Amino acid sequence: RQNARESLYIVLNYAKNFYQQQLHQSEEGHAVGLSYFKERGFSNEILKKFELGYSLDNWDAFSKEALKKGYSAEVLEKAGLLIHKEGGKTAGYDRFRGRVIFPIHNVAGKVIAFGARILKTDKNQPKYLNSPETEVYHKSDILYGIYQAKNAIRQQEHCYLVEGYTDVVSLHQAGIENVVASSGTSLTTEQIRLIGRFTPNITILYDGDVAGIKAALRGLDLVLEEGLNVSVVLFPDGDDPDSYVRKVGAEAFKEHLRKAAKDFITFKTEILLQDAGNDPFRLAAVIGEVVNSIIKIPDAIKRQVFFHRTSEMMKVDEQMLITEGNKLLRKQQ
Ligand code: GTP
Ligand code: MN
Ligand code: MN
Ligand code: MN
Ligand code: MN
Repeated sequence: RQNARESLYIVLNYAKNFYQQQLHQSEEGHAVGLSYFKERGFSNEILKKFELGYSLDNWDAFSKEALKKGYSAEVLEKAGLLIHKEGGKTAGYDRFRGRVIFPIHNVAGKVIAFGARILKTDKNQPKYLNSPETEVYHKSDILYGIYQAKNAIRQQEHCYLVEGYTDVVSLHQAGIENVVASSGTSLTTEQIRLIGRFTPNITILYDGDVAGIKAALRGLDLVLEEGLNVSVVLFPDGDDPDSYVRKVGAEAFKEHLRKAAKDFITFKTEILLQDAGNDPFRLAAVIGEVVNSIIKIPDAIKRQVFFHRTSEMMKVDEQMLITEGNKLLRKQQ
């Protein structure tokens, strides 16, 4: 098993180098991939730092070369790079074709998978294509950018969490290096613990659309349960961290982070209250939900602070919230 994993790392590293070479050295890579990245404002330095690449718009440009180099069709398939067709005349075809490539690294810096973006949005094709789950890639255990971010996260005792690959890359270029991406899925306990290895402080920077806000509310109780301190920053509707930092520049972006950050409980209470309006039944439901989040916090002093704060926001008696919280806690035991 150890050997099987090792051979996947080796072929994934080979693929990473191949895609990088195509981006920087092939005519198509230059004309299509590199100009795409340039249009997005990515510098050469940042392309190298994230080892970004390009896959030729061709059925088997990669696998043909890899087979020639002696990698077996079996290992290419196991690495998620080759799609095998039963009874076909050839070994199969490349998973990634005509896309820009974002290698996904594990904490130690080994390439374990790829995210691949289409160049022009097309309703008939997914915008991003990812490696499938493999022996070395478990999507729910990893965060994009953790290898490039871990030292900065430790130093600054803080981690920013964004949705997308390009948010991570763009923020690094703007000088914000303590950032990782969930890659569009809701957070898992494993991912939260991964951040927790480096810092207890996390700020969620989700896209400024309804889906982004809902995503920010969902899954975050999980972060509280792990004892992390969670804040949230929203962006203007339609913007994500990448588009916003390009629009306003690094300094104004950092200023926005400072000014707009709200702790998660306050954020959630505000959003739910706005949603409920004056309807007493919905208000009652909001109170229940807020209490339910607060009791997820393992630390009793922090819980107390939030009972106090939210009782004022919801204009209800603090003692009542505490009593409700205790009731819920007892029920769970
Ligand atoms: P750009 O359009 O390149 O700026 O990408 P984005 O990162 O802003 O994309 P978006 O906000 O739409 O999605 C956030 C993240 O979700 C992406 O970075 C991907 O990781 C993931 N994602 C988005 N679209 C798809 C898709 O079609 N398939 C898969 N598997 N993942 C996707
Ligand atoms: Mn979005
Ligand atoms: Mn984007
Ligand atoms: Mn986005
Ligand atoms: Mn009090």
